Order: sequence, then structure tokens, then C-alpha cells
Amino acid sequence: MPDDTAGRRPQGFYTRLSHAGRAGGRTHGFVNPPLVRGSTVLYPSCAERAALGKRRLDQVLVYGTHGTPTHFALEDMIAEIEGGTRCQIVSTGLAAITTPLLAFLGAGDHCLMPDSVYGPTRNFAAGMLARMGVETTFYPPTIGPDALAPLVRPNTSVLYLESPGSHTFEMQDVPALAATAHTRGLKVLMDNTWGLHFFQPFRYGVDVSIQALTKYALGHSDALLGSVTTAAEGDWECVRTAGLQLGQYASPDDCWLAIRGLRTLGVRLDRQMRSGLAVARWLAARPEVHSVLHPALPGAPGHALWKRDFSGAPSLFGVVFVPRFSAEATRAMIDNLDLFGIGASWGGFESLALPTTGFVTRTAEQKDFGGPMIRLHIGLEDPADLIADLERGLAVLAAYAG
Ligand SMILES: Cc1ncc(COP(=O)(O)O)c(C=O)c1O
Repeated sequence: MPDDTAGRRPQGFYTRLSHAGRAGGRTHGFVNPPLVRGSTVLYPSCAERAALGKRRLDQVLVYGTHGTPTHFALEDMIAEIEGGTRCQIVSTGLAAITTPLLAFLGAGDHCLMPDSVYGPTRNFAAGMLARMGVETTFYPPTIGPDALAPLVRPNTSVLYLESPGSHTFEMQDVPALAATAHTRGLKVLMDNTWGLHFFQPFRYGVDVSIQALTKYALGHSDALLGSVTTAAEGDWECVRTAGLQLGQYASPDDCWLAIRGLRTLGVRLDRQMRSGLAVARWLAARPEVHSVLHPALPGAPGHALWKRDFSGAPSLFGVVFVPRFSAEATRAMIDNLDLFGIGASWGGFESLALPTTGFVTRTAEQKDFGGPMIRLHIGLEDPADLIADLERGLAVLAAYAG
């Protein structure tokens, strides 16, 4: 997008969400950018076709897979939200993970991943990357730079981060780990879906930031998308080239929905953050609860790192029950909630609950969280209603334990 901000005061997040990715000022036309679909692009001459083809790393119309103005508008919005310079929209959040991993890793390389990583990322590393000859070491997510350094091998090329882990919510010391990685020439890739705009990855040493736009950006549980954002031109070339070679593509209709979703992201997130914290606080005071894994909650694991690096928090967190309750009892509790759907993909307008015990695969260290766990996503419902629902659920839990 052209930079017309020279001499103006920097704008706030809500203002930027309202105006990014669309024509502003005194123009004649609709508020929203049009939805553009297309595969074939026509050129006025063979020479212009050849010239534009050379600019395939840029936002130019080359062919449908290279993007339409609808993709470009969304790319600009995400790059702006994350403080990066360039962004590639891909089909899903998982594709936003696999595309840069394939861009920066090759046969014989070694990758470092946190043990708390999103399950399908682990499966990709243990499955396809391993088949391609890439070895992955899973490290304890709360590792410090001194313990990380000896894990770096001569062939290590990627340090992968996810902070907090999306089921167990360990916070990572991103700037310290990224600094260590950079002294050894590694690329730092981070799944920043939880951090969204609350964590500005490029200020803390991340090279490539991954978002599952399926979550709060789209925000309505009706579409899937992912984004890969970079700050350095060389990283952009690698990501964009991999995306094009893989044929990565996202439907412009879904991009248009994401642009529409992003206009209200600020108010939704603000509301969901406050409701999430209200429910988390209420749960933390209950005798059935061992601990609440919400990094923004004072006293929760990782709170100090959250406070240092994040400006807010989304409404996804874990709840650990005291060990006298079984995992089966927590499942009975979830089955009996009225307002919480049983589902995985968070960031929508509706609340969700999920037992997490079975999803926590650990290879670096076996961790005892203190009891059976569930994960909650708090939606846009009235928090008092959600708390009343959870109170009924806790009665089921207690009855189950006898
Ligand atoms: C942290 C995290 N990253 C990535 C993804 C993948 O997103 P998608 O469902 O769009 O593939 C998810 C989905 O749950 C997630 O929780």
C-alpha cells in the first residue's frame, strides 16, 4: 500500500483496523474493496506479460495463484497488524505452518520445536519432514537460552516457537531464544496465533510470523485461512517462492470474509479478553480447580513473560482440576455444559470446551500439570451466563467424583 502517513501522528490499532486495506479519504465508491475472483490474467502485450512475470514476488496480477486485489488487501492488513512488511495468505493456519517450514528446511537439516507445539505441527515434523530427511528435536517450551544453545547442531536451520502453547499455555522467552538462535544463524519461525496483535513478533527477533486467521481474524467459525508474515526481504523471497511452488492458494471469498472480520476484531477481542479473564478469575477461586493456565492472569505460569512482552490476551486458556477428579469426570462435566460447544477451533464468537489431556504429547519431558485438564474458549456470550453454566458443570464434576 502507498505510504500516505508521512507527517501524520501514528494511528491507534482500532483506527488502523477500520482503514487498512481500503481506499480512504474523499473517494467516490463503496466503503469496502470489491471481491475479485479470477484465474487467467490478460496482458496488453507479450512484453508486458514477460515484465510482470518477473515481479511475481510482488503484489501484481500475474495469475490467479499469485493473488487478486482481495488477497493483497488482506495481506496489507495482516502485515500491518503484526508489524511486518510483507504477508502471504495461504489456505489454512496449518498451511501457514508447513509452508515456511518447507521454505527454510531441506534434506539433512535439523529443526528445534517446543514440546508444547500445536499437535498437527508436531505430526508434520514427525511425518513429512522426517520422510524428507529433516530431523526435529522437541525441546521443553520454557527452556532458557543457555539450555537451548547446546541443542543447536551444525545443521540446525530453524528454531520454531509457539508462545503460549495452544493446549498447555507455557510462555516462551522469545527475545532471549531468538537472540541465541540468531548468533548461530538460525531462522526463527513463530506461530503467533494466540499473540495476534498483542505480541509484535518482529520487535522480539522473530523472522517469520505465522497466524491461523481461522481464529479471531475470521472470527465467525465459518472459514479457514492462514498468513505468513516477514519483515526482511530475503525471508519474504523464501516464503513467497515456497508458497508459489506449493501452489498455495486461498479463496478470495474467504479473504473477503477475513477483511470483513478484521474490521470488528478490536471490539471482539477487547470484549473476549475481558470475559475470558472474568471466567478465568472465577475458576481460579474455585476449590475444584488446581490452577488456571491463562498467562494474563496474575500468578499463572508465564505471567511475568506475558506482562513483559504482550499488550493483551485472547480468550483461550486451560483449566487444571485437583487430582481427585478423573479425566473421565471432566469429560462428563463438558458433556453437560449448555453454552459451551465441544470443539477445537477457537477465536469464534461462541464459547467452546475441550478435554486436553489426550492431546498433550510430550517427548522432551513428561510434565505433570497437577490434575486432569480442559481448555476453554470464551466467546461473546454474557460472562455471567457462562459462569452459571460452568457452575452447573462443576456440580456434575463433583457428583461424578462422589
Ligand atoms: C495455535 C494454532 N496454530 C495453528 C492452527 C491451525 O489453524 P487451521 O485450523 O486454520 O489449520 C491452530 C488450530 O487450532 C492453532 O490452534
